Amino acid sequence: MSFPANLPSDSVVFDVVVVGSCMTDLVSYTPRLPKAGETIHGHKFFIGFGGKGANQCIQAARLGAKSAMVSKVGKDSFGDNYIENFKSNGVSTVYVGQTDEASTGVAPITVNDEAKTIFNPAPAVADLDPEFYKETDVFCCNETEAEILTGIEVSNVDHAGKAGSILLEKGCCSVIITLGAEGSVLMSLDKRTPHYIPTRKVKAVDTTGAGDSFVGALAFYMAHYPCMELDEMSRRACDIASVSVQSQGTQASYPYRAQLPQELF
Ligand SMILES: Nc1ncnc2c1ncn2[C@@H]1O[C@H](COP(=O)(O)OP(=O)(O)O)[C@@H](O)[C@H]1O
Ligand SMILES: *[C@@H]1O[C@H](CO)[C@@H](O)[C@H](O)[C@H]1NC(C)=O
Repeated sequence: MSFPANLPSDSVVFDVVVVGSCMTDLVSYTPRLPKAGETIHGHKFFIGFGGKGANQCIQAARLGAKSAMVSKVGKDSFGDNYIENFKSNGVSTVYVGQTDEASTGVAPITVNDEAKTIFNPAPAVADLDPEFYKETDVFCCNETEAEILTGIEVSNVDHAGKAGSILLEKGCCSVIITLGAEGSVLMSLDKRTPHYIPTRKVKAVDTTGAGDSFVGALAFYMAHYPCMELDEMSRRACDIASVSVQSQGTQASYPYRAQLPQELF
């Protein structure tokens, strides 16, 4: 993406800009869920960085995309820590606001038509504003989201093709439906036949955040390899997401470029 020429010359040009949420995950491991009012012993607790938008941004940055997050956090220790987390991952926090009840920072951002957009409808709502289908270059969702948006239960590649056709009818240019261990299905207006892209067979230990790893990786490829075919980008994003499911955690499991096979770049 680029900014209009009349911005000051020190304005930064980013490869990937993510507008979305930053959440602090407070994760407890317990033998079972407590009943209302009950206290039980757990065996592990950790605080992690999450939030779908932030996850995607971190994955894109770890692969080498110059990334910025547009979000707002509170004026509290979680907010401070989150901003530190972005910084240590090389994500620009210029557009991350911190708010308390008294004041809210606002950052004006200009994005021109060159900036490609990926829309990830999470959490999905059945009555999604129709403009979202038409205004995005790549509409990327998982099985659950596809079902909510199309009414088609997506549990295999065939169903994904049917749901994908409906999303194309709603005005999407390109649709990617991720199918967990099965990989993903890609469809576009010019190639309406569903294109199935399998993922590597791996031993999954924790699939939390796999979809966000996929979307972040896809954003990286769209920014750094604009001429690459979308199916190739999708294949590589699947490979990267399949690495993320092989270790525990959400962002903790997202690979850095140096840890990945160089043929992915
Ligand atoms: N068990 C798995 N084995 C290998 N790859 C996986 C597995 N689960 C997820 N992935 C990879 O992560 C991508 C996104 O996973 P998915 O479960 O569809 O997203 P979400 O996290 O939104 O539910 C898949 O397309 C695939 O590449
Ligand atoms: C798809 O993403 C949603 C968040 O929008 C999540 O709640 C759901 O569990 C995911 N579905 C699958 C099959 O992983």
